Amino acid sequence: MYQTLILNAQVLDGSGSSARHIDVAISDTGKLSLFPPGNETAAGETIDADGLCLAPGFIDVHTHDDTAVIKNPEMENKISQGVTTVIVGNCGISASPVSLNRDEPPNPMNLLGEREDFLYPKFSDYVDAVRKARPSVNVAALIGHTSLRSNHLADLFRPANTDEIEAMRKELRESLKDGAIGLSSGLAYDTAYEAPDTEVKALIEEVAESGGVYTTHMRTEFDQIINAINESFDIAKHGRVPLIISHLKCAGAANWGRSSEVLKHVEKQAETHKFACDCYPYSASSSNLDPKQVTDKNDIFITWSRPHPDQSGKLLAEIAEEWELSLLDAAYKLMPAGAVYHCMSEEDMQKILSYDRTMIGSDGLPEDPFPHPRLWGTFPRVLGRYCRDLNLFDLPAAIHKMSGLSGTEFGLKERGFIADGYKADLVLFDPKKVRDVATYENPKQHSEGIQKVWVNGQLSYSSGEKANGRAGECILRN
Ligand code: ZN
Ligand code: CU
Repeated sequence: MYQTLILNAQVLDGSGSSARHIDVAISDTGKLSLFPPGNETAAGETIDADGLCLAPGFIDVHTHDDTAVIKNPEMENKISQGVTTVIVGNCGISASPVSLNRDEPPNPMNLLGEREDFLYPKFSDYVDAVRKARPSVNVAALIGHTSLRSNHLADLFRPANTDEIEAMRKELRESLKDGAIGLSSGLAYDTAYEAPDTEVKALIEEVAESGGVYTTHMRTEFDQIINAINESFDIAKHGRVPLIISHLKCAGAANWGRSSEVLKHVEKQAETHKFACDCYPYSASSSNLDPKQVTDKNDIFITWSRPHPDQSGKLLAEIAEEWELSLLDAAYKLMPAGAVYHCMSEEDMQKILSYDRTMIGSDGLPEDPFPHPRLWGTFPRVLGRYCRDLNLFDLPAAIHKMSGLSGTEFGLKERGFIADGYKADLVLFDPKKVRDVATYENPKQHSEGIQKVWVNGQLSYSSGEKANGRAGECILRN
């Protein structure tokens, strides 16, 4: 007996091959079965998809939803896009294992929340909390290098010593044993920048055995990007661990137009080492306000400021003019603060988005009161604007970048494909209507065209109506 049967859908199975006309059934245990039309058995509920597209639930491979899945388990911003799984712990920052031994979470761990949000000294504590919160999306977690550093280095602006490296290794080993899916780094951030490659190499040795991956927000995405790519491969190769470069981009006006060179370079390296990358479909980045990124070459939009909350929603240049300060002095006065940097060329971003090894990851910042629109709009924007309207790639390829490729690269068992015996994570959408609505000015909006979303077999989102609820699981390695 099946609980749900979906008939008459164009089924895009996540592999990148074209749509098939098959019927899809969801069992009582939340698994999928496929049937040629007319051959299915009885089900509790039958849904006539009427020619809409049915795809594997989208996997947001690059998130900072670590504490959001616990504090706001509805995860409306993600489920409304058709996202059924989030990978947390990117860019070197994870909510666990963390024992905060200072007044405030260090930069950029503060992207994940305030001091009181860091409640998980062990990875298993985090898993327990996610299970208890029962978010609407599945959660798989990386362990952040900067988080490990913050546990053991009072001063983050220097390399770790032998004892500190040993202590970090031990924590990482234990977390991987308890199901974490790999290690992430954020070497561009000041709190990890002083870590030499040897420090990360020591940690990566722990990852290979677990079957995990290494994701990195590289040491730089600006002029020295080729060196940073080489360092990333070197570290991953040292550990014989697959490499995933986070939010691959050519940042900074001086770097525009280099996407072909960058892609050629990674493709060459990928001949000898397993590699993938992720990208969000916007030409502006977002993070904490960072003096190193302050420039008059592109707009910088302030999303929040601790000392000057009234300045959020304005351009840094406007604020500097009002205060009669230089851009840099105005930035220091605003910090700690958040910013959207219009630092990429649209053409470069499109090239990277279209690249075969690129997965889709939002990099959305759920704690930001004025978030970059990628938090609410990434997946429908790829399907609407970049696939349908601009025709950068066909629909099966777009779906593959959001599901099958992602499940494979991160080693998520039974996720990312519509196949017999796989978990029933599904999204039903209208390919003609799907589009992102969130904008820089009004970023918190549901997308259009996402009709229904199932997570582990349970209907979890239904556009316009309230759906049943939350069925997300913690996805543990092995
Ligand atoms: Zn990052
Ligand atoms: Cu990130």
